[in-house]
Amino acid sequence: MSLYRNLTWFLKGMKEYTRDGYDAASKSFIVEDLSVSHVGRSFMVTGANSGIGKETAAAIAKKGGTVHMVCRNKDKAEMARADIIRESGNTEVHIHILDLSETTQVWEFAETFQRQYPTLNVLINNAGCMINKREKNSIGLEKNFATNTLGVYILTQSLMPLLQKSRDPRVITVSSGGMLVQQLRAHNLQSKGGFYRGPKVYAQNKRQQVVLTEHWAKTQPVIHFSAMHPGWVDTPAVSSTMPQFRQMMGERLRSAAQGADTVVWLALSRGAPSTPSGSFFQDRKAVPTHLPMAWTNSSAKDVAKFLVKLETLAQEARPQPADPQPGSPTESSQALVIQHHI
Ligand SMILES: NC(=O)c1ccc[n+]([C@@H]2O[C@H](COP(=O)([O-])OP(=O)(O)OC[C@H]3O[C@@H](n4cnc5c(N)ncnc54)[C@H](OP(=O)(O)O)[C@@H]3O)[C@@H](O)[C@H]2O)c1
Repeated sequence: MSLYRNLTWFLKGMKEYTRDGYDAASKSFIVEDLSVSHVGRSFMVTGANSGIGKETAAAIAKKGGTVHMVCRNKDKAEMARADIIRESGNTEVHIHILDLSETTQVWEFAETFQRQYPTLNVLINNAGCMINKREKNSIGLEKNFATNTLGVYILTQSLMPLLQKSRDPRVITVSSGGMLVQQLRAHNLQSKGGFYRGPKVYAQNKRQQVVLTEHWAKTQPVIHFSAMHPGWVDTPAVSSTMPQFRQMMGERLRSAAQGADTVVWLALSRGAPSTPSGSFFQDRKAVPTHLPMAWTNSSAKDVAKFLVKLETLAQEARPQPADPQPGSPTESSQALVIQHHI
C-alpha cells in the first residue's frame, strides 16, 4: 500500500505540483479576484521571513493590509521586513519573535498578542519544518510534531476569540500534498519507537493539519478555515532538507511567488469564503484530501483520540494563568473538544 500511495502521489506531483502544473492551472485564474484593497485588515503570517511566507506577507502588504510577521530569527525577520516595506511602500509590517517548536512560548505569545491588538482578520499558519533526525523541544516533545501540529493547534485555538470578533475572519494552513500518502496516526503523535524518517513524520504532521482544519470548520462556523498545498516550490526548506530532490527537479520547481499564490488567494479574494470551510486547496481549487483507493481515511474514533491527545498536550504545556476567567481560551478550547465528542 505504501508503494502504491507513494508512486501514485509522485506521478500526480510531476503533472500538477511543478512549474508546468502551475502554468496550466493558472490559465483559469481570474485576475480580478485579487483586485481588493485590504487597508484596515490585519494578517498574521508565521514563517514570514522566507519562501512562501515572505511572498505571502509581501502580497498582503501590497494590498494595504497590516502584516504581523511571526518569525523565530530576529535578523532574518528584520531583513525580510525591510524588503517587504521597500517593495510595497506599506509600513504597517510588524515583527513578532516566536519559536513555534517551543510549546509554552506559543501560548504566551498568543495571549500577549490578544491583549495588545484589538483585531486579527486572517491567520496564516505557514511556518513548517522537516527535521530529519529525532529532536526534542525544551519540554521533551518531538520537534516536527511540536512545530507543525501542536504549535499550529495552540496558536489557532488561542487566537480564535480575537478572530471571532474580527470581520470576515479566515484561517489558512499551509499543509502539503505529501499528506496524501499518510493516514492519521492518532496512537503515536510523536513518532516514538521504530526507525525515524523525517519526510514520513512531516507528511503525518501535514495530514494532522488537514484533519484539524476539517474539525475547526465543523465546530467554528464564524471563521472560514482552509488548508492548502503550494506545489513543489524552490525554497530554503527544500534545498536544506531535500537537496537531492531539489537537484533532481531543478527548473521544474515552482517559484516562491507561484507557491504562495493560493495562500494569497485564500487570504485576500472575496470569493474564498464562499467555498466550503474546511477544504483543502491546490491552485485556487478545492481538491480531494485522499488519493483514490489509498485507504487513508480516518475513523471518527481516531479523529476524536487525536483531538483529545492534542488538547491534553497543549494544556500540559500551558503556563498557569494568574486568575483564569470564564470564557478564557482554556475554557473555550476544552469546550470545543468536549463538544466534538458529544
Ligand atoms: N517548498 C515546498 O515545496 C513545500 C511543499 C509543501 C508544503 N510546504 C510548506 O510551506 C511552508 C513554508 O515553507 P517554505 O517552503 O516556504 O520554506 P522556508 O522558506 O524555509 O520557510 C519556512 C519558514 O518557517 C519558519 N520556521 C520553521 N520552523 C520554525 C519554528 N520552529 N518557529 C518559527 N518559524 C519556523 C522558517 O524560519 P527560519 O527562516 O528561521 O528557518 C521559515 O520562515 C511550510 O509549512 C512547508 O511545510 C512547502
